[in-house]
This record gives sequence, C-alpha cells and structure tokens, in this order.
Amino acid sequence: MQSRELRNAFLKFFEEREHTVVPSSSLVPDDPSVLLTTAGMQQFKPYYTGEADPMASPHPTLGGKPLGSYNTVSIQKSFRTSDIDEVGDERHLTFFEMMGNFSFGGYFKEEAIKYAKEFFDSINLKIDYVTVFEGDTDVSRDEESVKIWDKYGFSVQKGNLKFMGKEDNFWGPTGNEGPCGPTTEIYVFGIEIWNIVFNEYYCHKDGRLEPLKTPGVDTGMGLERLAMVSQGKENIFETDLFEAIFNAIIEIPGDKPIGKVRIIADHLRAATFLIADGIEPSNTDRGYILRRLIRRAMATHYKFIGAGLDPKFYIRPVEAVIDIYGIENKTTILESIGKETERFSKSLERGMKELEKLSDISGKQAFDLYQTFGLPPEITRESQEFNWDEFNKAQADHLAVSAVGAEKKFGGHGLLLDTGELKAANEEELVKVTRLHTATHLLQSALRKVLGDSVHQAGSDITAERTRFDFTFDRKLTSEEVTQVEDLVNRAIQDDLAVNYEELPYEEAVKTGALHFAKEKYPPKVKVYTMDSKYPEPFSKELCGGPHVTHTSEVGRFKILKEESVSAGIRRLRATLE
Ligand code: SER
Repeated sequence: MQSRELRNAFLKFFEEREHTVVPSSSLVPDDPSVLLTTAGMQQFKPYYTGEADPMASPHPTLGGKPLGSYNTVSIQKSFRTSDIDEVGDERHLTFFEMMGNFSFGGYFKEEAIKYAKEFFDSINLKIDYVTVFEGDTDVSRDEESVKIWDKYGFSVQKGNLKFMGKEDNFWGPTGNEGPCGPTTEIYVFGIEIWNIVFNEYYCHKDGRLEPLKTPGVDTGMGLERLAMVSQGKENIFETDLFEAIFNAIIEIPGDKPIGKVRIIADHLRAATFLIADGIEPSNTDRGYILRRLIRRAMATHYKFIGAGLDPKFYIRPVEAVIDIYGIENKTTILESIGKETERFSKSLERGMKELEKLSDISGKQAFDLYQTFGLPPEITRESQEFNWDEFNKAQADHLAVSAVGAEKKFGGHGLLLDTGELKAANEEELVKVTRLHTATHLLQSALRKVLGDSVHQAGSDITAERTRFDFTFDRKLTSEEVTQVEDLVNRAIQDDLAVNYEELPYEEAVKTGALHFAKEKYPPKVKVYTMDSKYPEPFSKELCGGPHVTHTSEVGRFKILKEESVSAGIRRLRATLE
C-alpha cells in the first residue's frame, strides 16, 4: 500500500472504533522536559496522569476543543537523535511519522492487542512474532498479554512469542518523569514495527515507579517502516516517501555512495520539518540540533559526493520534501536553509582541507577544527579516529581560560586556580576541578530535590580528586537517599544539560531565585549559572564565578564516597568522578 493509503487506513480503523482523530502536535513540544517531540503520546501526557480530563479540558491541537473520548488516534511528527549514528542503514531515521492509538481509561491490554492484530489483518500483513515483558524486581512478568496473544495463535510453545527485558520491553518516561510501563512489540520480517505500551506507572524524577490510578494505552508504529514492509521493500528509502527526495539528490553531480545519499536525504528532510515548526539554526538546544543536521549533510556531501559544494544543490531536495508533505512557508524554509548552507560552505571547505592535511590527529586538533571551522567532531571522526577524552579536555581547557582570570582576581598562591573553593595547580587539574565544580552544582540541586529546600550550602572545597560539600540538614542520610542523590546527578549528566550563564547586578540575580551562599561576599555584578533550560525550572540555578563545563555530559560519572556529620545540623558529602 502507498503511504497515503496506510495513513488513511490507520486513522479510519481507529475512528470506526470510537477514537477521536487528533492532528499531530508541533515538533516543538509543550512538554518542557524534552527538547523535541519524540513520541505520539507527548501531547496526551496530562490525560494519563489525570491532570487533564478528556471530556472537559481544552486540547491544544484540536483548537481548544476537548478530546471528547477516552481514546484517540494520531499520526505524529517525531524526531529522535538517539539513532543518528545508525542513519544510512536500511531503516533508521531522525525524523519519522509515528502512527498511534491511545487510551486513558477507555480500554487496556485486551482491546489494544486485539486492535493491533485486526489492523494488521485489515492491511494483509502477517505478524512474524511478538515480544512481551519478562518482568524484573520492580514489575512482574506480563502474563496478561501472554494470555491474550495466545488467543490469536502466538505463544512461546509455537515459537512466535518471546520474552524480553526492560531494555526492550519497557517504555518511558519521555524526559525526566512521566507515564511509563511494560510493552508488547510486533515484528514483521524480523523488523520491529509496532510498540504497544501499557502505561501502568508514573516514573518520578528519582526513578521511583508509582502505579497510575487509571492504566492507559500508548502505541507507536513508524509509518516509514510500515510502508517498507507493506510495499515489500528492503529499506525505508525505497518507499514512496523518499522517492522524490532521493531523485533530487541523485541529480547532484558526483559519485553517490548509497549510504551517504541516505544520510543527506534523512537530514535534509528532518531539517525541513524542524524549520517548518519555527526552529532556526543556532548554537544552542533545538537550533543546534538543526545546525548539526545541515552541517552533517553538507560535510557528507563534500567528503563523499564531492563535485564542489554549491549550496544551491540543496534547493531541489528541500523543495521535494515540502511538496511531498504539503508543508507551508516554502519561501521561509528555503531562505533559512539557504542562509545556513551559504554560511557553512566556506568554512567547511577550509576545515576539510585542513583535516586532509593532518594524519593521526589528536583530540585537541579535532577540537581546534570544531572551534575554528565549525567542523562537527563526528564528521572529523568519519575521516579519522581521535581520542574523545582529549577532545573533551581541549574543550574544558578552552573554558578554563576564564579560570586564569579568576586566579588574578582571587590572588592565587602560586596556583593556576585558587578561589578558596577551587584548587588546581596545573592545566590537567584545572580540567578535573572544572568538571567537579559543575558536578557540585548538580549535587546541591539533587540534595534539595531529595531532602527538601531546607538544604543549603554551608561550605565546599574542590580539588582535582574530589569535591567536599557541606550543607545544612539535621540527620544522617539513609543509604537510599544517598543512592537517590547520586542517581539524580548521574541522570542530569546523562541528559547532557547545557550550562549557561547570565551576568546580572547582585540584587537582580538574587531575585531570580538562584541559589547563593549566604556567607559569601559577592561583587556588585555576578553570574547566574543555569544548567539546562529544558526543565520547567532549570535543574540547577546558582550564583557563581565559574568555571564550568559547557554541557553536563562532560562531567563523567559521579560517585558519592562518604557522608558524615561536621557539626550540629551540618552534614558533609565527599564525591568524585569515575
Ligand atoms: N511511546 C511509545 C514509543 O514511542 C509508543 O508510542 O515507542
């Protein structure tokens, strides 16, 4: 079936079964805990938790009308960076359309599985096998789904039902908290096609699972993969969805290795959708994701297709995307892509030439290529492997320049950095101290999230080996609390929060609610450091002189070594990075 027919068949199937058809939401989500929309369920998150009422609450993508049903169906524009390294193979994409049916108290496992089976029957697709959650210490094995699948001829005995663990068959939450639960997945020709999630829990920020009052259903099936199996193709890029885009790229002169054309096709398609939803290329957050996509497409083009890098080459493929999907604002989109490709084409050429001259490059050289020519490190890596630790160190050193200023300001004692709080005797130590310093901010926030707002900094001391953090709290921490704090910090590190600062007069800075150290005397103008803007509130917001890393993933793995008492009402934690 053609993709248009598949879309219609899906919506009609569920509409006939009392689901409200809901339009896709924007790729820029209302949900502040994620940068981009990654799943169809995101626009329905408040209905699972009971915060919104399907019968009464105004729903944004329905122009403010309520859903009017406990069951919905949608085809959602989705974007995931998690698979970006796989793009170029047969079936991975960054942007895709996710077909899904959802229920918040309307139905549960029985109907969800029945509908899935019936839908496949209705489009004449044979299910290969299904998978079911095998259970773990927190959530038991999903025996109910096993019984239901058995009615349709799927069982372990028959060899077409397999048990899988949490890694594969447990979904969510999106962002740092939200609905989640075990899943059952459908495979066709050995390819995962449909993910059916039973939202039974709410996962809190600290990882705790709380049963939801009303369990719900959230399913997701990539249209591109469905089109691939339905059209009997061996890869996504041979489906009708990509034909015109591919042809437009093929027109570009030069050699065209297929895997590389796929990367360009995927990235230009995704970039077009991101711009259509109002994102502009920039150096932060969503804008940076967009910039990276365009730059990666261009660098792939330059390296593997060659034939000069005329930014005009991109007009036709982007127009093809706009036409296939009937996207509005053609002129704005073409202008935005045009400006970005124009800007990068010159420095890309210089950067690539520079790279060609080098052999056996170090992480520091890879960083210089990034810093000077904007050459994304993963592009450099495609030409030559380098040491990522060295790259990260170079990045941290770059930041630490401000620390040398700090030394003068604080009158260093023969040390590169000695602020009283931070101590580093050489560049290498400075990098470690910088990472631990960022970790210390995350630690303070995590402590307040786990133990409450009575926690305040009472002192700190950071060397290259460890951070020592004193804080107000009136009892010993339990080992669970210590683990929770540690996990929360590591989660913030994994989430790769952006670290930024704003310079403000002291009075104004304090008014922003940023944490500050009561004992410290601050200058009239201070910096407010925030770690991430994607949470409703930044994960951390503190008055501080720096230095910090630019993104929390540079911190490394955080480990609490010891918790002890310093004096009445003051506790001390020692922690390090692994
Ligand atoms: N939320 C699940 C997923 O994204 C099912 O829709 O896979």
